[in-house]
Amino acid sequence: MSDSILLSRLSLGTWTYAGDSIWSVSSESESIRVIQEALDRGVALFDTSPNYGNGRSESILGKALGNNPLASVATKCKVDGLTRSELISIVENSLKNLQRDTIDLMQVHWPASDPGQSSFALDVFQDLVREGKIKNLGVCNFGVHDLDENSGKNIISNQLPYNLMWRVIEEGIAEKSRELDMKVISYSPLQQGLLTGKYTSLHDFPSGRKRTRHFLDDGITAKHGDRGMERETQSCLGGFLRISAESGISPLNLAVSYILSHDFIDSMLAGARNLSQLEQLISAIDTKLPEDVKTELDRVSQPLLEAIGGNPDMYNRKSRVR
Ligand SMILES: NC(=O)c1ccc[n+]([C@@H]2O[C@H](COP(=O)([O-])OP(=O)(O)OC[C@H]3O[C@@H](n4cnc5c(N)ncnc54)[C@H](OP(=O)(O)O)[C@@H]3O)[C@@H](O)[C@H]2O)c1
Repeated sequence: MSDSILLSRLSLGTWTYAGDSIWSVSSESESIRVIQEALDRGVALFDTSPNYGNGRSESILGKALGNNPLASVATKCKVDGLTRSELISIVENSLKNLQRDTIDLMQVHWPASDPGQSSFALDVFQDLVREGKIKNLGVCNFGVHDLDENSGKNIISNQLPYNLMWRVIEEGIAEKSRELDMKVISYSPLQQGLLTGKYTSLHDFPSGRKRTRHFLDDGITAKHGDRGMERETQSCLGGFLRISAESGISPLNLAVSYILSHDFIDSMLAGARNLSQLEQLISAIDTKLPEDVKTELDRVSQPLLEAIGGNPDMYNRKSRVR
């Protein structure tokens, strides 16, 4: 790794601050406080995207951290159909929003539908590494074939969804990323709040977050073209809450320790809306997961893993991840 990023076990995601229909209203001042407190408490990597609230999350991160060298800032963009100058202008806008001289980690957000386009975008970003506007290149949601096609492009990390309700990366993608010497940064550790103990039923989950393939395609929120997996997801949730009660490990600690018990995870990227959520996440990373509890969590999540059927795209039946 030429110019590595700072990587903490817990990294902070800023999608929560988008203020959109998925995450609803968030206070800018509180979001800034959470980011600064996270940095003070040892969180080193902060992830964002211009797609989160049309630049709102990036700007909040910029106000909170500016050019602070103790933080690594990662952003990402979708690259489908974009020209060289459009890609460069996205990076330049992100630099402005983030109030930084350089982006520590610039990521391709999703593999492009034309695989050559992902490779093209990475080459453009590599040119910006030479100009000092970017320090490192990363990808998100890249599958085994996507990774193979882009090996040799100095990619240092693959950001992937991983939690008890989304274990698909165990089947090859995480291993491939590590084999290519990439860091695996997991995202949506709490399945966007579902695994925090706040919900016992899928019905109560905020409708804006019912976009993933766990939920029935209603054509409004979820548009993945799939039947959804609500029966298996509800059963996994029920099993998870039962294990939490029986083991005396809180749902949040259980969700977090399950992820961090896997050696292939280098960092876990989580969202925190307020200081109290951040505090709970920080204490959760030290939870030790007993082996028998882990085995039981594997067991209750197995039917959902099978229902997912090997498609690593959490949002689409026709997988963009290859
Ligand atoms: N590369 C990609 O394609 C991709 C995709 C998704 C996410 N990401 C990144 O990963 C980051 C994290 O994933 P995520 O935001 O999707 O999901 P997440 O971390 O699983 O969930 C975050 C949400 O869970 C709730 N929460 C957090 N701590 C809590 C606590 N202690 N108690 C109760 N509720 C708590 C909060 O929502 P409420 O307060 O509203 O309940 C918070 O906004 C994102 O911010 C983003 O940076 C990347």
